[in-house]
Amino acid sequence: MRSARATACSNIALVKYWGKRPDTDPDLNLPDVGSLSLTLADLATVTTVTPSDDGQDRFELDGRPLEGRPAERVARHLDRVYRAGGGAGRRPPCRVVSVNHFPTAAGLASSASGFAALSCAAAAAFETDLDAAALSALARQGSGSAARSIFGGFVRLDRGTRPDGRDCVARPVAAPDHWDVRLVVVQTTTGPKAVGSTEGMERCRTTSPYYPAWVETSQADLDAATEAVRARDLDRLGPIMEHSCFKMHAAMMASRPPLLYFRGPTVEAVRTVFDLRQNGLAAYVTIDAGPHVKVLTHARDAAAVAEHLRRVPGVAAVSVHAPGPAARVEVLP
Ligand code: PMV
Repeated sequence: MRSARATACSNIALVKYWGKRPDTDPDLNLPDVGSLSLTLADLATVTTVTPSDDGQDRFELDGRPLEGRPAERVARHLDRVYRAGGGAGRRPPCRVVSVNHFPTAAGLASSASGFAALSCAAAAAFETDLDAAALSALARQGSGSAARSIFGGFVRLDRGTRPDGRDCVARPVAAPDHWDVRLVVVQTTTGPKAVGSTEGMERCRTTSPYYPAWVETSQADLDAATEAVRARDLDRLGPIMEHSCFKMHAAMMASRPPLLYFRGPTVEAVRTVFDLRQNGLAAYVTIDAGPHVKVLTHARDAAAVAEHLRRVPGVAAVSVHAPGPAARVEVLP
């Protein structure tokens, strides 16, 4: 084993993933719908994996030791990467140091960049020859959205049909420089901790009468959005992106008990974007399993869009992100 450091950027889904494929191995973490995302510059996790010098796994996140469930999740992920790379016997104990370089609490989940960076750093540290597709499949097992953070720019993750998940890996649709768009991240006031994605997805799948409609209609969104990205057509992509987002949230809200991720400022920020559009600005929203709003717009309009959103009561911070690069890894001396 050697030492390696990987950097991976976060991503935001333009066509959403929500729901896990039933009757498949839960450890494979297979999505019930495909998704399309944009990898974001300036929202990166840097993870270093080195051989542990005291024979024990040691994990650290943002300067603090990682313990309990999160540490178990990291250990399990290291086991997966080791086995996938052909490792036999007991996995060597590792020291993992991970730092999130996110601008002052962007309010974004770091599991996508985190599991992508961990997969790449561990694969290099264990001296495997896993390719990007294999790394994407591994990252997916850590967190569904992480599969997409292996690649830069616009990325598509297909649902696949194989029970072993081999056809469920992300693929790049367009490089970061393909299209000069920006994602404006609008952090709203935070409330009590939202229901986590795994629990929320299961609740939605098993109790929401809208879940089957969500799944049935997602493939058409994915294909149409992929075409719109290739054609650099924001006025075609935007309505598909909002439709995917609001269908997902409608299915969530119709769960029992309801999954309501919006806060007051979430709705106000969305309304502001709708108003901007009335006034001729091309800007479109998406919202994940949390209260923050993300707005896709042309680079030339991003500063104006951000300025309007900063004035919405309850908005805590607004940051603007260009399309970001693929995950990268270096072997350390
Ligand atoms: O990767 P997870 O398990 O945190 O799920 C991500 C779910 C959404 O963020 C709501 C949508 C998506 O495709 O990223």
